[in-house]
Amino acid sequence: MAVDISVSPRDGEVPLPAHLRPAPPCAMVIFGASGDLTHRKLIPALFDLYEAGLLSKQFAVLGFSRSALSDGEFRRSAHDGIEQYTGRSVPEPIWQEFSKGLHYLPGRFDDATSYEALRARLAELDADRKTQGNRVFYLATPPELFQVITACLGEAKLNQRQNEHGFVRLVIEKPFGTDLNTAQELNRGVQTAFDESQVYRIDHYLGKETVQNILAFRLANGIFEPIWNRNFVDHVQLTVAETVGVERRGGYYDQIGAFRDVVENHMLQLLSIVAMEPPVVFEAEPVRDEKLKVLKALRRIPPEQTGELTLRGQYTAGAIDGQPVSSYRGEEKVAPDSWTETFVVLKLHIDNWRWAGTPFYLRHGKRMPARATEIAIQFKRAPQMFFPGEERLEANVLAMRIQPDEGISLRFGAKVPGPTMQLQEVDMNFQYGSSFGPNVDQADAYERLLLDAMLGDRTLFTRADEVEQAWIWAEDILQGWRQHSSNVHFYPAGAWGPAWADAFIDRDARQWRKF
Ligand SMILES: NC(=O)c1ccc[n+]([C@@H]2O[C@H](COP(=O)([O-])OP(=O)(O)OC[C@H]3O[C@@H](n4cnc5c(N)ncnc54)[C@H](OP(=O)(O)O)[C@@H]3O)[C@@H](O)[C@H]2O)c1
Repeated sequence: MAVDISVSPRDGEVPLPAHLRPAPPCAMVIFGASGDLTHRKLIPALFDLYEAGLLSKQFAVLGFSRSALSDGEFRRSAHDGIEQYTGRSVPEPIWQEFSKGLHYLPGRFDDATSYEALRARLAELDADRKTQGNRVFYLATPPELFQVITACLGEAKLNQRQNEHGFVRLVIEKPFGTDLNTAQELNRGVQTAFDESQVYRIDHYLGKETVQNILAFRLANGIFEPIWNRNFVDHVQLTVAETVGVERRGGYYDQIGAFRDVVENHMLQLLSIVAMEPPVVFEAEPVRDEKLKVLKALRRIPPEQTGELTLRGQYTAGAIDGQPVSSYRGEEKVAPDSWTETFVVLKLHIDNWRWAGTPFYLRHGKRMPARATEIAIQFKRAPQMFFPGEERLEANVLAMRIQPDEGISLRFGAKVPGPTMQLQEVDMNFQYGSSFGPNVDQADAYERLLLDAMLGDRTLFTRADEVEQAWIWAEDILQGWRQHSSNVHFYPAGAWGPAWADAFIDRDARQWRKF
């Protein structure tokens, strides 16, 4: 549970509204602080929180990596990162205050003396910055280092609270394992050093405004829940389409593929939020219990059914926005004979009372013609047709657009004005920009997640059993694919996957959503 503290506003500032709780005093140690994530996401998010008055004045960031940086160099790099990734110049007075909280300590992640130095530096920060012994350890390193860092924190007893009211928390970046074995092994390691209540596993999709809004939409509006089930919903489509290729991640991606990079984690998280039962109360454990039940109810796809219920693709050379782009096999650090998938579709069933018989189609790919993340609830048709041409109308669709063009729309049939009873589809549309003002600040997912980690709210973080359950389900599919390694269909970059992708859904007399 979150700790309630009150923090006085800065001089001349308007106090925060009651529902905005600022973080308590704490020191955040970022392992891998010289890396890309820290530069692009973590520091800009912390700065935004500070500017919004949501970070305590008694905060400290302690960057910890091998690179020999001074505090000054770390601060300069932080300043550049904030300007580059927030796209605005940093207000000098706020930067002067904020930067005093940024510190850096070079060290090795597997070396006990480095952890002794870390302990000493944290004690100094407690004294200088009044961080009260509260610690958040953020693992922003390559994932193969998560185990050793966690174990070393435990051996150095840095996992223990400094005082009765204090806290020590561990935030772990993705990916959490690359299969069931590695995820279980990592969970065992983490839970040897830390109690599960101290652990915050990041899935940054859960920090997105639009994903949280799915929860608000479902749980705060009485009209949708009664129709949110097999009786009214024909099927659900989840799409995560990217126009980009593998960029500089070729070496990593070629080992992982689209399924493990996006579907097994982000898309299953979206699916569980869309499909879960309302929790008894909106708190971390009841919410995560309900998400876990969805994962447990996901029908397994035995290896012999992967051919029927899944489809993989890989992009060849093509064009995006009229510009020629390379094939996947031609990307940097990708094996020239790679069979790694860059596109995947799946048909899933959730075997519970709410969803029995209602398929969920998942589609994810790189080098698609458009960037779109969307959840579309496709409702059943009206039981009887009265009007000419009605059968050609699309059935009602509730589309929740996660990005871009964030919002929600409901598609329905309307009479075209005129003397005949002619129908056409129209959309009722909610857009963040027009409803909350053009300058509405869609906080970056990391702002919300960092704040929640400091506040002690685990609702938007994945629990150990959720992670393992997702891998249990994914294992069958991976096994099926291993047995048919060459069964990957090619598609030109700039197409919506291989031609087979249309056949995959056509055979159920349904169509993919168009973007
Ligand atoms: N970058 C993103 O946008 C992004 C998005 C989502 C998730 N993530 C996750 O966030 C984590 C960090 O990603 P990143 O892109 O920031 O990674 P990165 O830039 O490759 O690495 C982070 C830091 O870890 C240290 N490091 C690397 N290899 C090491 C080794 N063998 N031994 C000790 N230290 C090593 C490096 O610092 P030193 O050399 O100074 O020690 C490096 O600056 C990863 O788990 C990634 O999957 C990243």
